[in-house]
Amino acid sequence: MREDHQDAVQRVDAARLWKRHMDMAQIGAIPGNGVNRAAFSAEDIRARHLLVSWARARNFSVSMDTIGNLFVRRPGLESDAPPVMSGSHMDSQPRGGRFDGMYGVLAALEALEAIDEAGVKTRRSIELVAWSNEEGGRFAPCTMGSAVYTGARSLDEIISVTDNEGIVLKDALAQTLAALPDARARAFNAPAAAYVEAHIEQGPLLEMQGKTVGVVTGIQGLRWFNIEVSGKTDHAGTTPLALRKDAFRAAVDIINALRELTHDPADVLRFTVGRVLVTPNSPNSVASHVLFSVDIRHPDVATIRGLGEAVEPLARKAAGVCEVKVTPTLHDDPCVFDTDVVNTIEQAANTLAVPNMRLPSGASHDANYMARVCPTGMIFVPCEKGVSHNEAENAKPEDLAAGARVLTATLLDLANR
Ligand code: GLV
Ligand code: MN
Ligand code: MN
Repeated sequence: MREDHQDAVQRVDAARLWKRHMDMAQIGAIPGNGVNRAAFSAEDIRARHLLVSWARARNFSVSMDTIGNLFVRRPGLESDAPPVMSGSHMDSQPRGGRFDGMYGVLAALEALEAIDEAGVKTRRSIELVAWSNEEGGRFAPCTMGSAVYTGARSLDEIISVTDNEGIVLKDALAQTLAALPDARARAFNAPAAAYVEAHIEQGPLLEMQGKTVGVVTGIQGLRWFNIEVSGKTDHAGTTPLALRKDAFRAAVDIINALRELTHDPADVLRFTVGRVLVTPNSPNSVASHVLFSVDIRHPDVATIRGLGEAVEPLARKAAGVCEVKVTPTLHDDPCVFDTDVVNTIEQAANTLAVPNMRLPSGASHDANYMARVCPTGMIFVPCEKGVSHNEAENAKPEDLAAGARVLTATLLDLANR
């Protein structure tokens, strides 16, 4: 590794990186060390302001596109050359942890600062990106910012989505955009030379194998559906079961049928119903309407496609006397990361003597969409017992710093090609 690159890597500051996680974790803090920082909420806006204040203190330039993706740029020698990008997201699950997403944003900032302090000049600019609404916990689907940025979805397609309170995305987004009036306007899908995302693993493999860094090879396939079941509300005490159109009962039958469809003794397949809205949601009224989400994942493309095809007919069959509407909201085939970027990350980890292993990602990430438009890879660091999407999510300062060092070396390598 070049001497100036080594200098930059050594300037990655574990204490600063940790402190920034703890400062961010105050925004939307919930009991048990967790955070609730929904996309386009007041907390999301505060996190954006804090990130921008750190960026501006370094004279890095800040820009934003119309879905609210936020960019922080350290210029390279060739301002017209497509930049190398790195980042993740700052929104969280309703009962989320301090590191999911935030680590990728703060590791990229740490890399930019370390490179800046070392005074390293890079051929390409390096750009941090904080993607909007990665989690999709408030406004579904997930990975919205990167999907719109890369052209996989249009803004029109998602702009009228509502949250559980009936707030329309368009209005929440407008507030977020208005809260950062000084950010330069930025177009979608500007050419990028490469994208590297750092993230906590969200699974137990690195910890179990005693490795500090995961060199991620790709992301498993993912299908999301909204299933709406309509019946009729009735008195729970008086209406004979045979005369009911019980939407909740039909929803349970559909979910049981889906559980059978997705049964996998090898435990590779993932099936989750995580969101259920029941109307009228009263103990002594038969449910007239149930809306629930379906999340199915598998690393094999034929398997995930076949399962996706099977959902609607199966739901219709299991719905009995109720009506059912199945709306696919997300279809991501498995993604394989760029060999060259994967090798570059692995080489950086080996050069820095950071114990590492290759592994696929079970969780989805914004890297899934960036992989469609530029060479892409990811760096994982361990999290305690693999726990994530949970307040108890935890990681070690020294592991976060090791991942940031590997990221810094990788970005420098890619930015000088
Ligand atoms: C991202 O949080 C996912 O659902 O995998
Ligand atoms: Mn995440
Ligand atoms: Mn997440």
